[in-house]
Amino acid sequence: MSEVFVSPDEVSIPLVQPANLLEMAIEAGVAIAHLCGGRARCSTCRVRIVEGLDALTERTDEEAAMAAKLDFPSEVRLACQTQANDSVRLWRLVLDKIDVEMASQLGEGHYAGPVGREVQAAVMFVDVAGFTAMSEALPAYDVVHILNRFFNRAGDAVDSNSGRVDNYMGDGLLAVFGVDGEDDPAFSAVKAGLEVLAVAADMHDYVSRIYGCAFEVRIGVSLGEVIFGLMGAESSARETVLGDVVNTASRLESANKTTGTSMLVTEDVHAGTMDRVEYGRQFELELAGKDGHVVAHAVIGLTVPSSET
Ligand code: FES
Repeated sequence: MSEVFVSPDEVSIPLVQPANLLEMAIEAGVAIAHLCGGRARCSTCRVRIVEGLDALTERTDEEAAMAAKLDFPSEVRLACQTQANDSVRLWRLVLDKIDVEMASQLGEGHYAGPVGREVQAAVMFVDVAGFTAMSEALPAYDVVHILNRFFNRAGDAVDSNSGRVDNYMGDGLLAVFGVDGEDDPAFSAVKAGLEVLAVAADMHDYVSRIYGCAFEVRIGVSLGEVIFGLMGAESSARETVLGDVVNTASRLESANKTTGTSMLVTEDVHAGTMDRVEYGRQFELELAGKDGHVVAHAVIGLTVPSSET
């Protein structure tokens, strides 16, 4: 009888009819990770075919694209995209105890189904300028007080523009717009960013009056595909966003230091909002981790009153 033999588990799965490798393995209780839910959007279900490559279906277009991106040799296949028509011996990627535990959680609790979903979203990264100097000059509790006062109002600006605060990182705030299908995430993010700048201007009055130091923020906004889903250890997993779009927003936030601006957005965000947003200078920036130049636009304000948007 034909079989699919999986190592290192040493499990033999009878093959009565052509079948998908991932489905067979899961049914037989073999822990193969499959983070994207079998859509060729990750590579966690990859297996190395030891014998029987000819017994497998050709790569699907989606698998071929992933294989090209990650430079897979011909014997490395995505189990979710591959059907066995005859006997095959394979090694699964999941090799150590931690991976096995994670893979075995994939059908349960927090990890049920695909671990994340891909959505078109706008990401806004906000950071307090000169925070280190402020923390050195002021008592720690006063710094906490200032940050909480700012985050409280900045969070309201995010909420009122249909966004959600994804995370606070020290003196930084990461917000995301559009993950639940809201319209026009780029404009919502820019509008929220302008409101955050207004909050920061108020904060400056307050902080300079009481503490004698400045309070300013820098903002970066980018748009594109992100993975939105539960990440982290199972006991503390939480919904968050991940993707190059997040890195870009963070890099643009930092780039304000060299451009002398307060809010920079990507070309995509600019293109989708220029009918309602006034932009100033355009920059070609070299951003860490990015090939070539990234075009960024400085935001000035809305071209229509906020009440009409
Ligand atoms: S499960 Fe993601 S590619 Fe197979």
